[in-house]
Amino acid sequence: MIKYDFTGRVAVVTGAGGGMGLALTEKLLAAGASVLGIDLKDKPASLVEGDRLTYAQGDLTDEAFVAGAINAAYTKFGRIDYLANIAGVLLFGKDVSLLDIDMAVWDRVMDINLKSMVHTVRAAVPLMRKSGNGGSMVHFGTIQCLRGDTKPQDAYVAGKLAVVAMSKSVAMQLAAEGIRSNVIHPGVTLTPMQERWSEDDKKAVADYVPMKRVGRATDMADAAMFLLSDASSYVTGTEMIVDGGLMLKY
Ligand SMILES: NC(=O)c1ccc[n+]([C@@H]2O[C@H](COP(=O)([O-])OP(=O)(O)OC[C@H]3O[C@@H](n4cnc5c(N)ncnc54)[C@H](O)[C@@H]3O)[C@@H](O)[C@H]2O)c1
Repeated sequence: MIKYDFTGRVAVVTGAGGGMGLALTEKLLAAGASVLGIDLKDKPASLVEGDRLTYAQGDLTDEAFVAGAINAAYTKFGRIDYLANIAGVLLFGKDVSLLDIDMAVWDRVMDINLKSMVHTVRAAVPLMRKSGNGGSMVHFGTIQCLRGDTKPQDAYVAGKLAVVAMSKSVAMQLAAEGIRSNVIHPGVTLTPMQERWSEDDKKAVADYVPMKRVGRATDMADAAMFLLSDASSYVTGTEMIVDGGLMLKY
């Protein structure tokens, strides 16, 4: 059993009202960190606001809201050490081939999945610098952006691969200051995003994955805990695939 000690450290987690973001928020709190959780959704019942948790409900595409929430967390907690950019959308049925997509859908997906992450990085990095202990960021991509797909979701995959480029670029820019930036590429994972799956779908996906199970939100949160923690202090600019071996098939 791996135990992390994040006592006295402060994390910003987007998507804290969803599957993976909530799982990471719970793990960080259990490990002693203070957390600012951000999401459009209502605060999940399992999260109790207090000395070590603030939940900011709002839209990450609104840069002023993001900057306000992160600055308020810095004021409350006294520092910012980590950023987990987890919020994202997959607009099933609307996000199709770029040959056919409604460009308003394209722009919406880019705004949420890419530009929102730029908003959080721009707000968090100056505060990490002021906090004086380096920092670590993890941004969520997808294995889908590493391969082609017979059912294209082109805005989603293009935006996610742009997140990789963003992460590598800031990793390079900030490496000498001890501020790290890495990407996690989840495989198929059971979260509210995949609510549309029937029991048969779940079984078929599990059978297709080499490790014979669908991913859990906690699998992704565990990978993020490692990349945020000092256990990965010499790791920056990388991509970690967390997919039960699924990419071995491609
Ligand atoms: N579930 C999967 O199979 C899977 C696979 C690969 C990658 N991912 C990626 O992992 C990340 C987390 O996915 P998840 O499965 O936990 O999804 P989820 O839908 O459970 O959680 C995503 C959260 O992001 C929030 N969000 C969306 N737009 C927002 C906005 N504009 N402002 C604030 N919050 C917003 C949603 O409210 C939601 O709570 C996403 O970036 C997703 O693209 C998921």
